Amino acid sequence: MSSETLDRGLVLDAVRVTEIAAIAAWALVGHGDEKAADQAAVDAMRTALNDLDIDGEIVIGEGERDEAPMLYIGERVGRGGPIKIDIALDPLEGTTLTAKAMANALAVMAWAPKGTLLNAPDTYMDKIACGPGYPAGIIDLDKSPADNVLALAKAKGVDASEITVCVLDRPRHAEIIASVRSVGARVNLITDGDVAGVIHTTDPSTGVDLYVGQGGAPEGVLACAALKCVGGQFQGRLVFRNADEKERARRVGITDFDKKYDLHEMVRADAIFSATGVTNGALLDGVRHEDGHVHTHTLVMNSSTRTVREVRMMRPI
Ligand code: FBP
Repeated sequence: MSSETLDRGLVLDAVRVTEIAAIAAWALVGHGDEKAADQAAVDAMRTALNDLDIDGEIVIGEGERDEAPMLYIGERVGRGGPIKIDIALDPLEGTTLTAKAMANALAVMAWAPKGTLLNAPDTYMDKIACGPGYPAGIIDLDKSPADNVLALAKAKGVDASEITVCVLDRPRHAEIIASVRSVGARVNLITDGDVAGVIHTTDPSTGVDLYVGQGGAPEGVLACAALKCVGGQFQGRLVFRNADEKERARRVGITDFDKKYDLHEMVRADAIFSATGVTNGALLDGVRHEDGHVHTHTLVMNSSTRTVREVRMMRPI
């Protein structure tokens, strides 16, 4: 195994890990309890990881050691051995979506060779992303959303009114939304789940061309791992609301607080990305129980081979 590429055999292991987390979270869909759903996914994912012959370190996880008893940043998982990997995970991306039985909740994880994923602190990040097929540098976080829409429309050969921008529905995004609409583009508002929001830009069937807005920095790394596999562009810049958040960044080795990261700085080597649907969504079907079987739907991608697979699993309950 080269130091920059993970063994292909790990792809199916990654699928099993997100499947197990999704099934565990699904048991809590619609029960109105975000924490219980998250905990179920965390427990299941941790058990599955510890059953693998990997020497894994959580670099994007459930928080810092003193605030997260499981899957905390720095936790070592797996039985050990020669396969040394960085792990970014979000056992339940969309805790509110799950608690309210809304669309697009996922169990998500990315693996990359040790030392190659950005150790992002648990802060916000300004993000912009588009799918593959555009000239490098077509989008820029420092341009207005309107200018980014116009650049993308020109490259796509369409009018700005044919561009759709996915944005998290938050008051902090009022200016972004106004800027996008000022040039006639459409805004696709989502209540939660910006990992899926970014991935939507890579899938023409979703109708989303661009993702813009502020969401979690950890989710930014996970989204970049997905883009690394299918192509696309991403820029992100950490957002600090107070001194404590800057301290969190320092603790994970960040010194340049204004840095604009691109995709390949956030994920510096080939990665494996896996996401299993918890609830039905644009990309993935949710977990389903039928005829005594549990069914799952997973998207798994390996950037070293540019392989994208959809895996449907069923097994007796
Ligand atoms: P959780 O699954 O942790 O609830 O995160 C959902 C999410 O919507 C992310 O996808 C996004 O990055 C972040 O929350 C946005 O944060 P906020 O809800 O504070 O605007």
